[in-house]
Amino acid sequence: MFRTDLFKDKRFLVTGGGTGLGRVMMEKFVELGADCVICGRRGGLLEETARQVMEKHPGSRVDTHAVDIRVATAVEEMIERIWATGPLDGLVNNAAGNFISQTKDLSPRAFDAIANIVLHGTFYTTNACGKRWIAEQRKASVLSILTTWIWTGSPFVVPSAMSKAGVAVMTQSLAVEWARHGIRLNAIAPGPFPTEGAWARLNPTGSSDDRYVTRNPMGRVGRPSELANMAAFLMSDEVEYINGEVIAIDGAMGIMGSGTFSNMLSYSEDDWRRIREQIQTTNAADKAKRT
Ligand code: HXC
Repeated sequence: MFRTDLFKDKRFLVTGGGTGLGRVMMEKFVELGADCVICGRRGGLLEETARQVMEKHPGSRVDTHAVDIRVATAVEEMIERIWATGPLDGLVNNAAGNFISQTKDLSPRAFDAIANIVLHGTFYTTNACGKRWIAEQRKASVLSILTTWIWTGSPFVVPSAMSKAGVAVMTQSLAVEWARHGIRLNAIAPGPFPTEGAWARLNPTGSSDDRYVTRNPMGRVGRPSELANMAAFLMSDEVEYINGEVIAIDGAMGIMGSGTFSNMLSYSEDDWRRIREQIQTTNAADKAKRT
């Protein structure tokens, strides 16, 4: 499926595409033949990323737009400028903001700092693209990057968990509302994928990633290329019947805690032998009582 012309004649916007996972996904799309547009707050950084990617992939095109997606009018202006040079075929809502904090210490502005990016900014961008796609009757795909906290919640990142849960509901709602226009919306819920931007805010003391490894059934964190592959898969027309889904990519870390016996993953064969013997002894005693 990942043939090099998979995204030929496609043009995708990746918000926050200058760094981290946004950049990795954008590079994958470019590798598969897409033209990309990246936006973010730091114009110089975006231009440097675009230059490097175009140099690595001769013939490719990466445009940049400096924008703060918290500002609805700025988003509308950006989308207008992008459309002036040609329509988009897809949008990846990757831009996010987050930091860990005790919730009782959050000011209203602190909550807004996250919610305005993740919830409001994602909506502004999605709707600015969506209304154009609908008017032009253009088939398109939207992919939002969430987290597994949308199902479980998470302490210490409440504004992010609430906002991303809102984007999950947007994904489901618009998947139904816009399907008749040929627009589909899906989302990815990644587990831990250490990147510089996220880890500076989510692991500020720089402690080792042990907890992400020991608390993950696969015993490791995610590889950015795995996320990029999933993004390419979902953005492809080849799977366009997938609509309104949120798909976890976390090595099953998100569901590990909900298994009553997940702690037994550390048991040895000897532990299991003793457990089997104990249960068999109990069963034999019960049987003896019944006869
Ligand atoms: C408590 C804090 C705080 C902290 C900021 N604030 N940091 N409160 N603890 N650690 C408060 C400030 O005091 C202020 O409130 C308000 O938040 C706004 O802060 P500013 O610094 O003025 O905000 P701003 O410059 O707009 O920056 C936004 C930001 C910043 C979200 C705070 O971190 C940012 O720009 N982040 C973008 C990149 C990013 O976060 N990447 C990680 C994404 S990871 P007062 O009341 O004092 O004025 C992710 C999911 C990862 O999303 C999933 C992994 C499993």
